[in-house]
Amino acid sequence: MSLGLKQAGFEIVRAYDAWPVAVANYNLNLGGDRAQVTDLGDILGIVPELLALAPDMIAGGPPCTDYSSAGRREEAENAKLTLAFAILVTTVRPTWFMMENVINAMKSETWAAARQVLMAAGYGLTESKVDASRYGVPQSRRRLIVVGRIGERDGFLASAIAAAAAPQPMTLRDLFGSSTPHAANISTTSEARRSIWSSHELGQTIWERPIGPHPDDVALIANGFVYSRPVRAGRGVRSIDEPFPTVTRTSHERPGPKYLSAPHLDDPIAASETAVLSTDQVSRIQGFPMWWEWKASSQRDVFQMIANAVPAPVAESIGRVVLDREGGKSAPDIQGGFLQWLVCRGRSRQSARNVKSLAGRARRLLGGKTFAVSALELATLEVVPEFQSMKRNPQSDLRQALRLLAEYQAEGDQRRKRPQVVAQPIEEEPRKAA
Ligand SMILES: C[S@@+](CC[C@H](N)C(=O)[O-])C[C@H]1O[C@@H](n2cnc3c(N)ncnc32)[C@H](O)[C@@H]1O
Repeated sequence: MSLGLKQAGFEIVRAYDAWPVAVANYNLNLGGDRAQVTDLGDILGIVPELLALAPDMIAGGPPCTDYSSAGRREEAENAKLTLAFAILVTTVRPTWFMMENVINAMKSETWAAARQVLMAAGYGLTESKVDASRYGVPQSRRRLIVVGRIGERDGFLASAIAAAAAPQPMTLRDLFGSSTPHAANISTTSEARRSIWSSHELGQTIWERPIGPHPDDVALIANGFVYSRPVRAGRGVRSIDEPFPTVTRTSHERPGPKYLSAPHLDDPIAASETAVLSTDQVSRIQGFPMWWEWKASSQRDVFQMIANAVPAPVAESIGRVVLDREGGKSAPDIQGGFLQWLVCRGRSRQSARNVKSLAGRARRLLGGKTFAVSALELATLEVVPEFQSMKRNPQSDLRQALRLLAEYQAEGDQRRKRPQVVAQPIEEEPRKAA
């Protein structure tokens, strides 16, 4: 997640995990000692440090094994970390937060409690279900991404997150069949292990030479199929012209006798004939770059770290959406229902369209911000220089459009029973993440 947010333009000030192996691998690859071994369930221990760091965003992927279909159903100790995340956010009060979890978390009591805490503290929430294959990795990994910002209306970022999705899912061929770097820095220590490095991977560069695609990738493309142990009764064999299923700890495993004796009827070739994924390939399907190095005493730990990760390209896409909104470069879509609502109140379709477009203009003048408190929205509009330079009539049209939009939204809130929240002014230039 840190790697992706960094690529999006965030400065990462600190990172935490309770697992020393994960922390060591983070620092090995991202440099320095920014990641620390910390139990984030110990709220009293971590809050003073976070308050001192004063991040503009807190981002995290609280452990999810207890909600996921692969794990135990009941919400045990681990799930409480989601609540701890909400308590940390609301105590430290960054302008933004970002949380990743499994889709099942949405139905959990823990997320219901965490959501309550966040909403009561004045965060507007966008809860989006994203498919990672639309956000830069060849993997149909469906996850819940929650983005919150103080003072916003719920759903404020949903249309922008949806718009950031690629029209087509990314396939294994897109990743492994595309061009590879023309040159690599080869170090004496690593040459035996791999043949592709980025230019900034290793300090101890010996020479640079042109290279071709990695032999493992060539073999995968030539074979055309991979095996992945099905979670339920799904297909085990996947084509390279589709995304890989969700990466798990066992994604590299060969089909066992159980599967081979009763393969899925729709498997395009025999599971025993498929290509075997290397550790590097599983790592790259999970969005890690080619230069990422894994160090652990067991392969099991390596695959656990890979499977745990929020794919960097996904975090990067969502991070860019956040920064665009922060910079006023995007504005939320106004729902089509607003038009209908105006028509039901006696406006012609043309007049309704005008109001909708004026509301959109007002939103853009407000830098794309939505406001949980309508009075604050109007007050903020009054001090926007571009608004102040307008004539009186267009000014009052814009005010009126925003009022009508707020009225429409308030009716929706009442239906959804969204509690009243108190909006806070948004801080300037938030770009630090922890
Ligand atoms: C879903 S993974 C998150 C992946 C990673 N943070 C990322 O951004 O890609 C959940 C992580 O929570 C860590 N974890 C579990 N219990 C924890 C605790 N009490 N305090 C801090 N981290 C914990 C696990 O070691 C695991 O790495």
